[in-house]
Amino acid sequence: MKRFIIPVLLTIIIAVPLIIFFGSVDLTPVLASEQGRDVDALFRVLYIIASIIFALVMSFLLYSVVAFRRKEGDLTDAEPVYGHVGLEIAWTLIPLIIVLSLGGVGASVLLDISHPPQAEVLEVNVTGFQWAWSFEYPQYDVTSNELVLPVDQPARFVLSSRDVIHSFFIPEFRIKMDAVPGKLNELQLTPTQIGEYRTYCAELCGTGHAFMTARVRVVDPGVFDEWVQNQQQPVAGPSDPVAQGQDLYETQGCIGCHSLDGTPQAGPTFRGLFGHEVALDDGTMVVADEEYLHTSIVDPGAQVVEGFNNIMPGTYGQELTEEQIQALVAFIQSLQ
Ligand code: CUA
Repeated sequence: MKRFIIPVLLTIIIAVPLIIFFGSVDLTPVLASEQGRDVDALFRVLYIIASIIFALVMSFLLYSVVAFRRKEGDLTDAEPVYGHVGLEIAWTLIPLIIVLSLGGVGASVLLDISHPPQAEVLEVNVTGFQWAWSFEYPQYDVTSNELVLPVDQPARFVLSSRDVIHSFFIPEFRIKMDAVPGKLNELQLTPTQIGEYRTYCAELCGTGHAFMTARVRVVDPGVFDEWVQNQQQPVAGPSDPVAQGQDLYETQGCIGCHSLDGTPQAGPTFRGLFGHEVALDDGTMVVADEEYLHTSIVDPGAQVVEGFNNIMPGTYGQELTEEQIQALVAFIQSLQ
């Protein structure tokens, strides 16, 4: 009996402080959504179960190392043990029950997040592409490169991707869902904390993956209405291609790889590019004029800049109109 009492007591001694620790310490970032509460509760349950299993395994292991060590002068072999039906049933059934019930709780949390809401809801179409996010608000006819949400109002996201699989991840909202090309994934949440957060991409999607972030702002409903009105005003008339180009730069993903401050990222910077000589990876030099910029947008593989990889998506020629490409060129031209 002693062989059980000691490790069981040891298990309790190790597990109790661990449970108290994980039950009280906040291991997750600020919680900013209603749906996140269930996710956090599930996390806590997982930590508690893991603490108990950790304590159990360690206690029996440590106890066995000490209690069953070789005594001095004992040169006999250990007694072989052949199976134990009761034990085998127990170590199969108990983990099975734990895993199945955790799966059940997890599925109900997921259902709660992906299930369509009944109330009035703000719709946001989220598009991931290499390497940026774009947020379309169909109810207001607004498209933005930052996600702005009114506090305490349910929002529904419809996720899609233009190229490869991305994953829409906002840690403070406790949401992470894949954006898959050719498929629409839905999730809903109600932001509860005014503040600034970031959305990340949680699926390795290419060289610019680490830069694939966007600003998330949770604001007062009044501030949100103001923002929508500002967005609805045409930022750029046809008379101002530079402003239109800047808008495209921010919403079409250029911002993910091309900086405006001279720092090279996944792609060369736009600062001071126009009119200067560019070294290409085939050893030739070319002047960055309008024609070069146009070609680099519609056929990025044609003239790859030395020191960079040929990774820019070749789809901009189809996604942008000729006028939009001209606007982008005008914007880059303005960055001297
Ligand atoms: Cu998109 Cu990683």
